[in-house]
Amino acid sequence: MVTGATGGVGSVSVDLLAAAGYQVVASTGKAAAAEQLKALGAADVIGRLPEDPEAKPRALGKARWAAAIDCVGGATLADVISTLKYGGAVAASGLTGGPALNTTVMPFILRGVSLLGMDSVQMPIGPRRALWERLGADLKPRHLDDLTHDVDIQDVVAVIDQVRAGKYSGRAVVRVAGGF
Ligand SMILES: NC(=O)c1ccc[n+]([C@@H]2O[C@H](COP(=O)([O-])OP(=O)(O)OC[C@H]3O[C@@H](n4cnc5c(N)ncnc54)[C@H](OP(=O)(O)O)[C@@H]3O)[C@@H](O)[C@H]2O)c1
Repeated sequence: MVTGATGGVGSVSVDLLAAAGYQVVASTGKAAAAEQLKALGAADVIGRLPEDPEAKPRALGKARWAAAIDCVGGATLADVISTLKYGGAVAASGLTGGPALNTTVMPFILRGVSLLGMDSVQMPIGPRRALWERLGADLKPRHLDDLTHDVDIQDVVAVIDQVRAGKYSGRAVVRVAGGF
């Protein structure tokens, strides 16, 4: 399971996991992006989680996911944790759906699931370089040109407006004057 699948973290995750041979289910609030996500390698595309936002959250739901990449947090992460299969794990990196996490110990003590915190800001340069090298070689995303969009500095505000309106997909790469 990849949540926030059309976003920067989510879309790269779909690409990487599909290339590694996993059966990826992409969760997105953008119904029109289904074909785009399938082109990245998603085997299936569903709406945002939880499927019924009004329903009372359950400590344990039907076990659905072997593992998950979650950049949404909030009720979405709680739903993913409660629906991981036995021994599953979710990597949590973001909070687009909110910072609060309302869950119980049940999935952890009855299904042995793991919640893995992800941080790319304070990560030491050693492992960071090692990961970058792999992301430029054996793990290089197959659809990088589709996932990233060059943006001139003067257009950044317009892109941010699109992101805030929930209309932006992929990763904007801002070209500063002179480039690198
Ligand atoms: N821990 C770290 O080191 C690290 C690194 C990078 C980013 N982050 C964090 O990870 C999160 C995602 O980053 P990103 O760059 O991928 O952001 P992004 O490009 O804006 O993608 C976030 C995605 O979340 C979904 N979303 C938006 N609002 C939502 C809502 N209210 N409820 C549920 N889903 C919603 C949308 O996907 P759909 O429309 O497809 O559902 C959106 O594209 C952010 O919170 C960011 O700060 C953390």
